[in-house]
Amino acid sequence: MPPNITNRGGNSVSATGTHRLRVREAKRVAQNVTRHRSRPGTRAILPGVKALVKAKAAPGLWLQEVPDPTAGPGEVLIRVLRTGICGTDLHIESWNEWAQATIQPPLVVGHEFVGEVVQLGEGVASVYPGEIVGAEGHIVCGRCRNCLAGRRALCANTVGIGVQRDGAFAELIVMPAINLWPHLTKIDLDVAAIFDPFGNAVHTATQFRVVAEDVLVTGAGPIGIMAAMVARHNGARFVVITDVSEYRLELARKVGVTRAVDVRTTTLAQVQEELGMKEGFDVGFEMSGQASALRDMIATMAHGGRVAMLGLPDHEFPIDWSQVVFKMLTVKGVYGRQIFETWYQMSVFTQTGLDISPVITHRFPYHQFEEAFIVAHSGRCGKVVLDWTAA
Ligand SMILES: NC(=O)c1ccc[n+]([C@@H]2O[C@H](COP(=O)([O-])OP(=O)(O)OC[C@H]3O[C@@H](n4cnc5c(N)ncnc54)[C@H](O)[C@@H]3O)[C@@H](O)[C@H]2O)c1
Ligand SMILES: [Zn+2]
Ligand SMILES: [Zn+2]
Repeated sequence: MPPNITNRGGNSVSATGTHRLRVREAKRVAQNVTRHRSRPGTRAILPGVKALVKAKAAPGLWLQEVPDPTAGPGEVLIRVLRTGICGTDLHIESWNEWAQATIQPPLVVGHEFVGEVVQLGEGVASVYPGEIVGAEGHIVCGRCRNCLAGRRALCANTVGIGVQRDGAFAELIVMPAINLWPHLTKIDLDVAAIFDPFGNAVHTATQFRVVAEDVLVTGAGPIGIMAAMVARHNGARFVVITDVSEYRLELARKVGVTRAVDVRTTTLAQVQEELGMKEGFDVGFEMSGQASALRDMIATMAHGGRVAMLGLPDHEFPIDWSQVVFKMLTVKGVYGRQIFETWYQMSVFTQTGLDISPVITHRFPYHQFEEAFIVAHSGRCGKVVLDWTAA
């Protein structure tokens, strides 16, 4: 069994009518095709469009044939080239409490991808066939106050691909054209595949000015490491990152943080002294979802410090609010990405020399998904990428 994966809490959004229809259609097809569970190292020989499907309410994923999608009005058919495996996919695969409360099988999973435009639905003129595109995986309602005001990232009724509707771990996906991000300059496909979590990092790391500031990042998962890289790129002085995994800390050292600290053996106070820091940290990015990490952060922030929280705790926990008050801290929750300002910033950071590729530590052809998921579950990895063009 994979190691215990944290539960994200059940903020499930009810499926739309269209989604229910799709689910019913997929169910019908799923009953007619032979269920095929691929074994590590073997190639699944299946006709039609292949996809990784949560086919039933149980642990596992199944490589299956799914209905050939076509682009309706306002939609675009995309050939998926690369996908990234995310913590959410691990929850769905292992079928934890959150997944059981949220996912309605059968569902094609996955939301981090890059692909090539194949077919335009009626009325689409924003992209062209052959164009390399990424996609914002949150499909917004378009009718709530925030949507109507253009604040799409704040829509409370989002439907997520690979969670509430069919996702990207497939040879083909259909997306609304307004969700697509055309990669205007030539970009490494593996890097483009992880623009979704890179976007989480950029969204967090751009909440507050970091020029000449001392930044603390708690949690050296792929997103924490990318956020640390963004802070460096944008002119921070010290960037200190913490974790409890030596593998992850080593990965952080490779990308050039000031200090990668194992909080099991070293305190942040020691590090601050070593660095000659007279004040606390100016800016904090919480990227672990762990109570002790947030508490360490609050304890070591400077007066007037600013904390952006992306890490998702799996339960409620107390913090010392008097420190928040006395230090006049700002604590800001961060979710998803700005649509599409964060995407623009990612492209610009990449163009100006920020290379996040060292965060990608493993690559597998899609039919070796079981090995890929084992590696991703192990935590001895950065981002794990699946190649959907591999033979
Ligand atoms: N808000 C959002 O929109 C959003 C989107 C994606 C991910 N997330 C959350 O962001 C966080 C980071 O994502 P990720 O993919 O990098 O996750 P991850 O699980 O790979 O990384 C979390 C890291 O925190 C480390 N950690 C555990 N205990 C710690 C402690 N006490 N101090 C410091 N580090 C500790 C773990 O060893 C791990 O390396 C996760 O909590 C994830 O659920 C939020
Ligand atoms: Zn993700
Ligand atoms: Zn909305």
